[in-house]
Amino acid sequence: MPAPKSVIIRSVGVHTPERRVTNEELSRTVDTSDEWIRTRSGIGERRIAGPDENPSDMGAKAAAQALERAGLSPADVDLLVVATMTPDLPFPSTACLVQAKLGLRRDIPCFDIAAACSGFIYALQVAADMVRAGRYRRALVIGAEKLSSVVDWTDRSTCVLFGDAAGAAVVEACDTAGVGILANLLGADGSNAELLWAPAGGSAKPASAETLAAREHYLRMNGKEVFKLAVRVMASSCEKVLAEAGVASDQVACFIPHQANIRIIEAVAAQLGLGMDRFPLNLECFGNTSAASIPLALEQAWREGKVRHGDLVLMVAFGAGLTWGATLLRWHEPKR
Ligand code: ACO
Repeated sequence: MPAPKSVIIRSVGVHTPERRVTNEELSRTVDTSDEWIRTRSGIGERRIAGPDENPSDMGAKAAAQALERAGLSPADVDLLVVATMTPDLPFPSTACLVQAKLGLRRDIPCFDIAAACSGFIYALQVAADMVRAGRYRRALVIGAEKLSSVVDWTDRSTCVLFGDAAGAAVVEACDTAGVGILANLLGADGSNAELLWAPAGGSAKPASAETLAAREHYLRMNGKEVFKLAVRVMASSCEKVLAEAGVASDQVACFIPHQANIRIIEAVAAQLGLGMDRFPLNLECFGNTSAASIPLALEQAWREGKVRHGDLVLMVAFGAGLTWGATLLRWHEPKR
């Protein structure tokens, strides 16, 4: 297969659990309030998955919607990449579980990417580069998370921030030049790993009665430090990607930032000299859904007509690792 002229996001899909948990409901179990959560984070409620609703189930549903919107069937997919920090199982990968649930072809490569909240940007870039190399025509990229399983529901400083969801994109080779993904950037700094981590439950410190008693297999975060680093890397990632593409920030119709905290997003917008009108938000309804956050926000912006054919769109994320990434694309909807 010859290398394509460009690589586009052809369609997007989402799945969110039915169950809404409001700040007021949380304040009945931990010492917090709707006022504190809203003013510190911008979050009003989050969705919480049921016991039989796992990242592979939510991811398969989001992907099925993206395929249907593109008029495609599972047999049309050549590659599957799933971004998640809450895989269904330690192994095999969530991608293999999604492959079986969706009925994708049995001979295609399927794998997970672990880059926490930057996971979707990482997965998108890996999949897009594999499509760009000419070996695969069409990839499914999924961000799927069940953070409710890994947050410590007794820790008010973290449990109020996260939620469950999945988002998916069909990434495809395109014969039109100058559209789709124009520039991208990925980065990481492992020297800050312990700012946001789960100390136990991996092979370094397997789950034991002691780790369970110490609640070490739950998410722990130094919120203040993560906040400062997040603003810095999100703003500089945007600036670098814009410079690489020769695009001014005010030419971008829509920014899709990782939805962790409204104050982080406001600080990034201010640093780029832009108003918040170019930054669609969904964290009020969903909180921080990690790798699902960007496709969830992108899908909503597209559905609401904030992302249209020909628009420049810049997606930017940061997460545990620390990791970060940004992707600039020209939204392209090919005629069918
Ligand atoms: N309700 C009420 N009070 C609370 C709560 C709560 N839920 N949580 C903390 N507090 C208290 C603290 O105990 C503290 O009290 P003290 O002053 O008596 O000690 C006070 O509120 C202030 O706490 P801070 O930590 O200073 O609050 P801050 O303004 O920094 O906001 C927050 C905290 C929202 C966590 C912020 O630091 C933040 O958003 N950080 C970035 C987090 C983030 O984006 N994480 C996602 C990373 S992506 C990924 O990969 C998962």
